[in-house]
Order: sequence, then C-alpha cells, then structure tokens
Amino acid sequence: MEIKDLREKISELKKKRNAVILAHNYQLPEVQDVADFRGDSLELSRIAAKTEAKVIIFCGVHFMAETASILSPEKKVIMPDINSGCPMANMITAQELKKLKKEYPQAVAVGYVNTSAEVKAELDFCCTSTNAVAVVNALKDREEIIFVPDKYLADFVSKRTGRKLIYWNGFCPTHVKILPQDIKREKKFHPKAKVIAHPECLPSVTALADEVISTSQMAKFARETSAKEIIVATEVGLIYRLKKDNPNKEFYPASEAAVCPNMKRTTQEKILWALEELKEEVKVPDEIRLRAKKAIDRMLEIV
Ligand code: 13P
Ligand code: SF4
Repeated sequence: MEIKDLREKISELKKKRNAVILAHNYQLPEVQDVADFRGDSLELSRIAAKTEAKVIIFCGVHFMAETASILSPEKKVIMPDINSGCPMANMITAQELKKLKKEYPQAVAVGYVNTSAEVKAELDFCCTSTNAVAVVNALKDREEIIFVPDKYLADFVSKRTGRKLIYWNGFCPTHVKILPQDIKREKKFHPKAKVIAHPECLPSVTALADEVISTSQMAKFARETSAKEIIVATEVGLIYRLKKDNPNKEFYPASEAAVCPNMKRTTQEKILWALEELKEEVKVPDEIRLRAKKAIDRMLEIV
C-alpha cells in the first residue's frame, strides 16, 4: 500500500474508533507524522488522561503504555507492537526492588518512570528525567534514598542535589553508545554549536554538555535558544522532531549509533492494524495499578 493511502486509512479509522495516536519523541518519522501528539514518556500519559478519545494508540515502549493505562484505566490503551520493551526498565524486577528495600528499611524508594507497573507499585515516588532532581530535592528530611534503575541518571541527580543515593546497576543500552570522543569530534566540526545531552548518557558525556535535559526539555531548548547549531546527545529519533520544529537551525546527532531498536518497531502499517483490530491492549490490574498510581501522584504533587 502507498504511504499516502495508509495515512488516509489511518486517519479515517482513527475517527471511526474515536482514537488518538500518541508518539514518543524517538519514534520513526513516519510514525511521528501520523501522531496527534508527540512528547516524552510522562507528557504522553498526561495527554492520554486528558483526551476525550476512548482509544489511545500508544507508539512508544511498554512501560509508557502501562503508565498511560495506570492514569486512565477507563480508556483502551493499544500498542501497535506489543514487543516494544525498554531494556533498562527490564533491568529491575519488583522482587529485586523488594529485596533492596529490605536491605535499607529506612530508605525512601524513588524510581524512574522507565520501570514496569509492578516495580512502580513498590516505589514511594516515581520521577522522570525532567523532574528527578526536583523529586530528590523535595526529600530533604529523608536520610537514605534508593534510586532505581538507571545508575547514570542517579549519578546526575546525586551531583545536582548533593545527595548520596543508593543506586541500582541499570542503564540504557542506547545512550551508553554515545562516547565523550563523539562530543569532542562534533565540537571540532561545529565549534559554535551548543551541546545538549540526556541524563541517561555516561557521566563523561554529560560533563561535556551545556545542558543535561530530557527530550521534552530538549524540544523546548531548541525552540528558545539563540544558538543556530546544536549537537544532540540522545536517541537519534529526536532529531527529526527538532528539525521539523526549527527549520532555521542545524541539529547534529552526537552519535548515529544511538538508536533504540524497540522505539523503531512501530510503523504506519502496524498502527493501521492496531486501529483495525484494537490490539494489543495494555491493561494494568487494579491491585498493582492503584499502588503504582500513588507513586506517580506523589511525584505530581511535588512538581
Ligand atoms: P524522556 O523522553 O522522558 O526524556 O525519556 C527518554 C527515554 O529514554 C525514554 O525511554
Ligand atoms: Fe529504554 Fe533507552 Fe530505549 Fe529509552 S532509549 S526506551 S531508556 S532502551
């Protein structure tokens, strides 16, 4: 089928199903182009909660669709490719977190949104890359803080807040592919460029950045900066959005190797099938959902 026909079919079926298409900033250009909204993980879940649509076609990875379902249990949350997981989120299980909490019974447990619903159910506070520093700063009266699963985000938060955190050994296999020599090389090619890096990057990479920010903050920075050239140290998919939103600026990926294969599994064909068959649904059982939601609500109260 021609891409144009596909788009028309998606648009028709979307109306018929009363559906909205949400795409994470790392999705393929063809997916971003048919999405009603693009954003970071939490932004998308909040949009999902607010929309009048009955069906959410979530183009991202599994924990994101779960988060949308946690916040809007009355809606049908569908993933066009149910096998799009996040390897970092899979680096900690609820059992492992329970064990860690037993080792540090006085500690408050903070976890990145990149975790399964079962892990979120064991957390006191959820956080995102946009608000992790604010969440930890709000815990001034707590002596011990567990921070899972990303050790590099934990390192970044620890440096920004001056708090010692109890880390887990998780990381993003995509962001660790960006190396300090990539930043140095791009800086040599584009000496006037500003460098923005995601906090999931190696500390040796974030140390070379002008700003260490989430993907939604990167989109905002790109709009607002007077810089005309920007080196982007995150998953390469974001570059498409940045270029589209800012046609008068130049964006250079720090490394072409920073590709998240799971984010690339969704295609227009799969979106069409998802709309046709209303499959695969992501639903979090209430006994886990209500506990996981508490950790998200506590985060939202802080920010
Ligand atoms: P944000 O879009 O929330 O910055 O997260 C990046 C990421 O790796 C999502 O999996
Ligand atoms: Fe997970 Fe990293 Fe892919 Fe984000 S980029 S979904 S953290 S593996």
